Amino acid sequence: RPAPGLRPGPPTTAVVAHRGSSEEAPEHTLAAYRRAIEDGADALECDVRLTADGHLVCVHDRRVDRTSNGRGAVSALELSELAALDFGSWKDRDEAPDWERTSVLTLERLLELVCDTDRRIELAIETKHPTRWAGQVEERLLDLLRRFGLTDPPRGEDSAVRVMSFSARSLHRVRVAAPRIPTVYLMQFVSPRLRDGRLPAGARIAGPSMRILRNQPEYVARAHRAGNEVHVWTVDDPADVERCVSLGVDAIITNRPGRVLSQLGRA
Ligand code: G3P
Ligand code: CA
Repeated sequence: RPAPGLRPGPPTTAVVAHRGSSEEAPEHTLAAYRRAIEDGADALECDVRLTADGHLVCVHDRRVDRTSNGRGAVSALELSELAALDFGSWKDRDEAPDWERTSVLTLERLLELVCDTDRRIELAIETKHPTRWAGQVEERLLDLLRRFGLTDPPRGEDSAVRVMSFSARSLHRVRVAAPRIPTVYLMQFVSPRLRDGRLPAGARIAGPSMRILRNQPEYVARAHRAGNEVHVWTVDDPADVERCVSLGVDAIITNRPGRVLSQLGRA
């Protein structure tokens, strides 16, 4: 870790597309991620869940009801059942009829997209409900990342993938098995023992909500003093973007990367 007082991370604030460019296209679909890449996002965020037959798919909610024409828990459905559902047409926009043929996105397909992109694009993968699966989510995730050569980047290079979670245990599992993958500890509030900016064992980057930053802006400097980067979610309001930049946060996670990049003068 850098010495306390040294600010890690890039000099500019990175822009991370939350569930893809999810304001413009249905979240967690290829259309949303392609749009995010076109928009110029530095990284893509996705949530992953295990299907009943052990595949990792990019779905935020426990159930598919909100974002597809099906019903039921992701964990109770097999990949072939999820693949038959329409994950696009719930997003009511006239201009993109192709969305209605959008199937569930597997993490494997998203990794292919990232690897096929002709510029560096990072991927921030959030493990959802890892405790329920007792290590299986991380095991499958690391198997997949290994297959894509992403667990062990060449010396001197950072991995293009990081793993995020609200579960410190999930991050610890990843850290033990693949120490070169950065891990982001997501927080809805800062517990008293972490107020000085330190993180639980296994985590290397702080992931506070925007609400935390509005109420405790001093948290950013504390995390930096402790040697940790700060990646904030979910930042859509231009005033919040401004706040993040002036506080020196390292990454903004947003549903509208195109607009945020314009605001930052990068588009
Ligand atoms: O990027 C972190 C953020 O996505 C966490 O909240 O509910 O959108 O997964 P949620
Ligand atoms: Ca997420």
